[in-house]
Amino acid sequence: MRTRLIIGSVAAGLASVAMAQVPSVAEQVKARQAGMKSVGAAFKGLRDEMSGTPDAAAVKRHAAVLAGHSSKVGGWFGASAASAPGVTTAALPAIWTRNADFRKAASAFDVEARKTLALANAGDMAGVGGQLRALGGTCKGCHDDFKAKDD
Ligand code: HEC
Repeated sequence: MRTRLIIGSVAAGLASVAMAQVPSVAEQVKARQAGMKSVGAAFKGLRDEMSGTPDAAAVKRHAAVLAGHSSKVGGWFGASAASAPGVTTAALPAIWTRNADFRKAASAFDVEARKTLALANAGDMAGVGGQLRALGGTCKGCHDDFKAKDD
């Protein structure tokens, strides 16, 4: 009886540790969608700044958000974050079946986001303006192959 109780509580302890370390698919999907939303907002912010007279501080801020997320995108779509029944996601199965291509698309984004941040930090607003096309191309480059069309 006593032994059983101990084993039971050890098992419960292990289960709660496992739960704490591995978020559910739904949690991971929610987190990456929130990350992508913030990527989307920062990219829109940059474009808006560049369509008028840019505020260098705002440009820096948006570029820093993008570069802060860009290195993490690959990790948002780990094997344990694939879709599950009942979870709404626009992530296509190709992310996992063609994972090397997906990771290439993610690192292309990271490279361009870092370039954008370097230009923003140097106060080179014309440079940032010129960089937007390459940066936006990496969003499209990934979404075309790996994200379901929603419009
Ligand atoms: C390496 C691939 C990849 C790159 C690069 C990428 N995205 Fe995404 N994005 C995705 C995938 C996959 C989803 C769908 C995620 C889901 O629903 O689980 C997504 C979702 C989104 C969403 C919808 C978020 C939501 O759920 O409301 C926005 C907005 C977005 N991306 C904007 C961008 C912008 C802007 C860029 C470039 C600056 C970008 N993304 C770069 C793969 C990428």
